[in-house]
Amino acid sequence: MKQAVITGVNGQDGSYLAELLLGKGYEVHGIVRRTSSFSRGRIDPFYGANAGVSGKLVLHYGDMGDEKNLRKLMEKVRPDEVYNLASQSHVGISFDMPEYSTDVNALGTLRLLDAMHDYCPKSRFYQASTSELFGSADESPQTEQTRFKPNSPYAVAKLYAYWMTVNYRQTYGMYACNGILFNHESPRRGENFVTRKITQTVARIAAGLTDCLYIGNMEARRDWGYAPDYVRAMWLMLQQEKADDFVIATGELHSVRELIEKAFAYVGTKIEWEGKAAAECGIDSSTGKHVVKIDPKYYRPIDIDSVLGDASKARRELGWEPEVKFDRLVEIMMEADVQAAQSARQD
Ligand code: NAP
Ligand code: GDD
Repeated sequence: MKQAVITGVNGQDGSYLAELLLGKGYEVHGIVRRTSSFSRGRIDPFYGANAGVSGKLVLHYGDMGDEKNLRKLMEKVRPDEVYNLASQSHVGISFDMPEYSTDVNALGTLRLLDAMHDYCPKSRFYQASTSELFGSADESPQTEQTRFKPNSPYAVAKLYAYWMTVNYRQTYGMYACNGILFNHESPRRGENFVTRKITQTVARIAAGLTDCLYIGNMEARRDWGYAPDYVRAMWLMLQQEKADDFVIATGELHSVRELIEKAFAYVGTKIEWEGKAAAECGIDSSTGKHVVKIDPKYYRPIDIDSVLGDASKARRELGWEPEVKFDRLVEIMMEADVQAAQSARQD
């Protein structure tokens, strides 16, 4: 039975990756943090005796800030594969917590790579790198050759982790890969990322549970894919003859405004826009209610206007293709959030 360690197993990607590996018969060792309230909703369905998966999920308390803990786990498990997904993953919040974001995202990766180097140097390593490395890029679309210009504490910390991964590969011959993943979403997406915030709030407005969506920069454009497609790419990267770095993206660009319009259209509401800049509002064309408003607190000190990926190398060398694109992604997320809002209304 193959063994894998996943840091950040309780996150969006960690949960989908665990599900994928368990389905392939892996023994998955997930690192979870101690928290004051227990929230394991994403991984509960496939944890324990009745999980109905062929593999086995083992959970370990740990933290990317605790070097000894990571070393002990690598020494004990000596896994075949390590997926480093743990991160303070919110770009906006990294401006409020630059030091913590650096400790977890940059030094945490170094701690893990070094523990692997000492205890299981033949294990294969996946680093959750990001399109944020490109920042406001010089060219579009971005490929593995595009120059990095990170412009947030999150992205600068991830740049350090990217180069450490390359460095351990080149210096010690470790099988270490960077997946440069563009934004990917799902019904399991954290509630303060823009896609999920929109689908959840629009579903709640339609169910009469709230009145208005407060939002920041609506002109931002992203290349949004579907998380289960992206964890498949992570696994593929660790099954090759040689370690390498890959861009994973859909190649489609959409704006936050477009996402809002699509989410409202799903519940039968047409949005008309009125006003400009921070005074702009979205109005429900049938009721005249103001259902979208700008709240400047969601503006970032510096934002990326647009990122668009070219995943040709992954297509060619991994045989990877995204199965879900933007329109279907919005439907999947709306279906789940509408159902959740309807259940909440009945409670
Ligand atoms: P996520 O939902 O925020 O999950 C992050 C996970 O990391 C959570 O399980 C969290 O634990 C854990 N974590 C945070 N700080 C930790 C620490 N100090 N020690 C141990 N665990 C810690 O993020 P995601 O969307 O799944 O993303 C997975 C990875 O891919 C992240 O590294 C992210 O930066 C990167 N990435 C994401 C995207 C995207 O669009 N989703 C794109 C490119 C790269 P709790 O569950 O306890 O909070
Ligand atoms: N979160 C959030 N909340 N973003 C908003 C809001 C809001 O209310 N209003 C507008 N936005 C804009 C942000 O300013 C940004 O331009 C865009 O929506 C996307 O924001 P997020 O969904 O927070 O994602 P992100 O692109 O900053 O970062 C995500 O993707 C990266 C890959 O490119 C995260 O998952 C990162 O961890 C990941 O590396």
